[in-house]
Amino acid sequence: MTLEKLKETANYLKSRTPVIPEVAIVLGSGLGPLAELIEEPVVIPYGDIPNFAKSTVEGHAGELIIGNLKGKHVVCMNGRFHFYEGYPLDTIVFPLRTFKVLGVNKLILTNAVGGINLSFLAGDLMIIQDHLNLMGNNPLIGNNIDELGPRFPDMTEIYSRRLRNLARNCGDQLGIKLQEGVYAALTGPSYETPAEIKMLRLLGADAVGMSTVPEAIVASHMGMETLAISCVTNAAAGISDQKLSHKEVTAVASRVKNDFTKLVSMIIDNMEMT
Ligand code: HPA
Repeated sequence: MTLEKLKETANYLKSRTPVIPEVAIVLGSGLGPLAELIEEPVVIPYGDIPNFAKSTVEGHAGELIIGNLKGKHVVCMNGRFHFYEGYPLDTIVFPLRTFKVLGVNKLILTNAVGGINLSFLAGDLMIIQDHLNLMGNNPLIGNNIDELGPRFPDMTEIYSRRLRNLARNCGDQLGIKLQEGVYAALTGPSYETPAEIKMLRLLGADAVGMSTVPEAIVASHMGMETLAISCVTNAAAGISDQKLSHKEVTAVASRVKNDFTKLVSMIIDNMEMT
């Protein structure tokens, strides 16, 4: 990946809309309905965007929406790219880097997770406090793009304390219970075994998923202030007798879409653009 390619894509997006986004939102499985709240939307299928891959997962629309949400200029990925689809990590994080080149400095990542913490229930929302990168890979491997960030970036506060506090306050005001915990990222696409879930719990994970971490690492590298919110769609493997399925994941995510949408809207409404 080169800065030239990122600029090429950023210029294409600028040619499609005069709106210069300030906040980026990535919508996870079943969480797409938030996109419907974006006003004066310009919708661009990934297939039309130079240097973007195409999203292949059911429940992920595969389009970029640029417009206004609560008076803020936003760019929203309705559908993301996953490592298990076979893309290299630098393809997966390409959109985020393009947004930085466009001037975006705030990021909200969302996803579906399996709950490892035994106090979590299906349908809970969780603020990601920190993560375990267990993908066996890192999106910053390879030439460092010095214009974006340093070779060896600090990862002490990937998920902004300030935005986590804001999210918690918004949850309190809306009466939406918010969990907070550590997200473990595995590659998937197979769900975990019960033994793997026991291991992840011993390692300090509260939830497990197959996305988000490459994006969060790259955002942190570029100095973007990041918030990540997970929807607990199921108890992780071995906790209940129920088998895991993508259908269940999207169905539960869709059940919480009202709370999720209210929460993210309020967070964006109250975000300070500094
Ligand atoms: N494991 C991994 N990813 C997931 C899960 C899970 O149980 N649920 C939703 N995404």
